[in-house]
Amino acid sequence: MRAAAILGTLLALTIAGSAGARTDANGIPAYVNGYAKWPKLNAKPIRGGSPAHQGTKQVYASKRKTGANYPLGAIVVKTATPPGKQWLSLVATMRKIRGSANGGWRWEEFTRSSPTARFTKIGFPESGCAACHMQAKANDYVFTRR
Ligand code: HEC
Repeated sequence: MRAAAILGTLLALTIAGSAGARTDANGIPAYVNGYAKWPKLNAKPIRGGSPAHQGTKQVYASKRKTGANYPLGAIVVKTATPPGKQWLSLVATMRKIRGSANGGWRWEEFTRSSPTARFTKIGFPESGCAACHMQAKANDYVFTRR
């Protein structure tokens, strides 16, 4: 009984700790569900590009820009497959939030090293993502544009 209570508390803490980043069975956050049907920002697959994100890349946005900026709640997703491979190895996300911290976006990146592995979130500070993406400030911190 006591063990069950402790287990329950641990479970509650685990869920609370990951609030905002609920993941699907594969470790990818649920908020990107359906991204493959969102408008694509790249005209053709991005090969090379930033070494910060390796592989062959595609970029999708859940909402279109209104003027120069993305609206609140917009989610931009970048996926990558390793060079010459078909399986997904990287999912990087930007979520437009209210406020100005880190360019007004939440930043997360998930990777895996084999097609059967679960994705895990990389331990990179959001400020580091924003610092590099600052170069694309004129396009609301988004490098890829149509
Ligand atoms: C050293 C620079 C650099 C850093 C650090 C970096 N990025 Fe990027 N990122 C880029 C570039 C350049 C692109 C454009 C596509 C490409 O070349 O891969 C990009 C593309 C993206 C995209 C697609 C939208 C866009 O801007 O084109 C997302 C989403 C993204 N990055 C998320 C992240 C996250 C999350 C982090 C931190 C964990 C991060 N990035 C860190 C350089 C960087």
